[in-house]
Amino acid sequence: MEAIPSWLTQFPVILFLLTFLSHPIAAEELLKGFIATPDSSVSSFQPLLNDSVGNYSLGFLRVDRTQLALAVIHVPSQEQLWIAGKSPLARWSSQTRLSFNGSLVISDSHTGVLWSSYTDGSRVRLSNTSNLLIEMVGDTTPLILWQSFDFPYNTLMETQIFTSAMTLVSSNGMYSMKLGPDFIGFYSRFADNSDPGHLYYQHNPMEAKARVLKGQGPIRAMLNPDGFLGLYQNGSTPVDLQSFSTFQQPGTGSRRLRLETDGNLIGYYWTRSSWIVDFKQIPNLCDLPSSCGPYGLCQPGKGCSCVDNRTDYSSGRCGTSGGDFCGKKHGVLRRTGVELPNKEIMAYTIMSSLEKCERVCEENCTCWGAVYSNTSGFCYTIDYPIQTVVEVLDVTKAGYFKVREGARKDNKVVGLWIGLGLLCGLVLILGGVVLYKREKRGVKGYVEEEGVNGGVGPYKNLGSESFKSIELSERWRKQ
Ligand SMILES: *[C@@H]1O[C@H](CO)[C@@H](O)[C@H](O)[C@H]1NC(C)=O
Ligand SMILES: *[C@@H]1O[C@H](CO)[C@@H](O)[C@H](O)[C@H]1NC(C)=O
Ligand SMILES: *[C@@H]1O[C@H](CO)[C@@H](O)[C@H](O)[C@H]1NC(C)=O
Ligand SMILES: *[C@@H]1O[C@H](CO)[C@@H](O)[C@H](O)[C@H]1NC(C)=O
Ligand SMILES: *[C@@H]1O[C@H](CO)[C@@H](O)[C@H](O)[C@H]1NC(C)=O
Ligand SMILES: *[C@@H]1O[C@H](CO)[C@@H](O)[C@H](O)[C@H]1NC(C)=O
Ligand SMILES: *[C@@H]1O[C@H](CO)[C@@H](O)[C@H](O)[C@H]1NC(C)=O
Ligand SMILES: *[C@@H]1O[C@H](CO)[C@@H](O)[C@H](O)[C@H]1NC(C)=O
Repeated sequence: MEAIPSWLTQFPVILFLLTFLSHPIAAEELLKGFIATPDSSVSSFQPLLNDSVGNYSLGFLRVDRTQLALAVIHVPSQEQLWIAGKSPLARWSSQTRLSFNGSLVISDSHTGVLWSSYTDGSRVRLSNTSNLLIEMVGDTTPLILWQSFDFPYNTLMETQIFTSAMTLVSSNGMYSMKLGPDFIGFYSRFADNSDPGHLYYQHNPMEAKARVLKGQGPIRAMLNPDGFLGLYQNGSTPVDLQSFSTFQQPGTGSRRLRLETDGNLIGYYWTRSSWIVDFKQIPNLCDLPSSCGPYGLCQPGKGCSCVDNRTDYSSGRCGTSGGDFCGKKHGVLRRTGVELPNKEIMAYTIMSSLEKCERVCEENCTCWGAVYSNTSGFCYTIDYPIQTVVEVLDVTKAGYFKVREGARKDNKVVGLWIGLGLLCGLVLILGGVVLYKREKRGVKGYVEEEGVNGGVGPYKNLGSESFKSIELSERWRKQ
């Protein structure tokens, strides 16, 4: 045995080290001194830190081709779960870097620090529930100094605690979710209103097992691994429990809730190959705040059309909504058999007639419209740009809506035809130039080339404008 050189007994260790060095395993923590810059060849996501199982990853996410967000994603589905800071985003450029010096810091060599965790920790780790942790590791158990679960974006993960100090915001920035003293509130931002926006949906606790006690502290919400969204006040007995269709389903699934771009809160359950929907906070399409877009009419069980029955919904959108009508002319659109989605939570005043209800709105330039019920006398004034109203069979309910003058759809259509005409003209001109060039080839081709490019400019812009309006209408169609 003594003949065997001592280094040979170490062989397995050396082999292990060699394997380790040539095939680096997924980084499971970032230590002080860590620096990363975005790789220009990456088109969607550049992983920097994985959890112990490899389900989740922290990395650079490419947004709109040129921008960068520091994000946590679910690896198998590429769903993004968390984003550092809401705006502005960094650039996807070698000037941008992520560093860890006790704080996780995103900085740009030109504009400086864009986002920071403002901590003094010793390592960064991603938990097996996707929680990004900055910890201080000492002699005892690691101390958590900062966690991404305290700063949610649009998603809540299993066991993540949502407190009254937090807000979920949909990725289009239009909707938010916050806890009130004894309810979950959903708010929209159709105009630049002050915080928190317009309350469009409210969920009140059932209080089956425990009651919300006034003055006994705020409530909190948690997505329970057993398949429900619980509301809690003190202790672990929920004051409310909204169970999902996978309630208490055995298995090692994983859950998430996301505030979607249509204002709904959707629950998803991971089946090991895909996410299935197992919960919708607002089950009916027509109860969403803008299910059919501005000036849309939602017909329960049927789908979308327009408040103005002369506009075809399939044309893309029913109307344009925007800022208030102060100092601007407006037209009027009326429709019977309509009411507001979730009128139960809307404020109203009692008026003796539809005319009086309309007049209150007519005289106020920060009123966008009014909906009146002849039977109850309830007059709802709309203090946000008109979105979607709901069709009802009751014709004693009537709506009055201000519409923007000069922003009528008809003008858009005319504009589109003019644009198409110009484009056809351009094609003819270009065709002519190509023919002309062919004849003159070799004589003054270079000069022609320049001349043609110069002439294309304005038409190109026009082309991109109509492209933009198509994109916009696509957006509304999707909503
Ligand atoms: C994290 O896991 C992905 C595969 O899911 C792998 O491509 C990547 O290299 C890992 N990242 C790190 C930093 O190890
Ligand atoms: C970490 O770096 C940032 C940005 O360069 C700096 O503002 C901060 O003071 C540093 N923090 C520590 C603990 O050194
Ligand atoms: C996740 O980590 C916790 C401890 O941090 C552990 O108890 C649990 O079993 C882990 N779950 C999975 C699925 O690995
Ligand atoms: C609930 O918690 C609040 C503070 O968090 C405390 O003041 C109150 O006494 C608690 N109530 C009960 C019934 O435990
Ligand atoms: C996490 O990884 C484990 C093991 O690969 C897998 O069984 C489980 O489905 C994964 N969970 C999620 C949410 O991806
Ligand atoms: C559109 O509505 C107006 C007024 O409500 C009504 O007079 C007209 O008949 C309707 N037109 C169609 C095509 O339904
Ligand atoms: C005008 O309407 C807005 C929103 O409905 C309301 O807040 C405001 O008090 C109204 N102003 C007047 C003068 O009635
Ligand atoms: C509204 O109600 C009044 C009496 O309550 C009735 O005279 C009137 O015809 C109703 N108008 C409509 C449009 O239903």
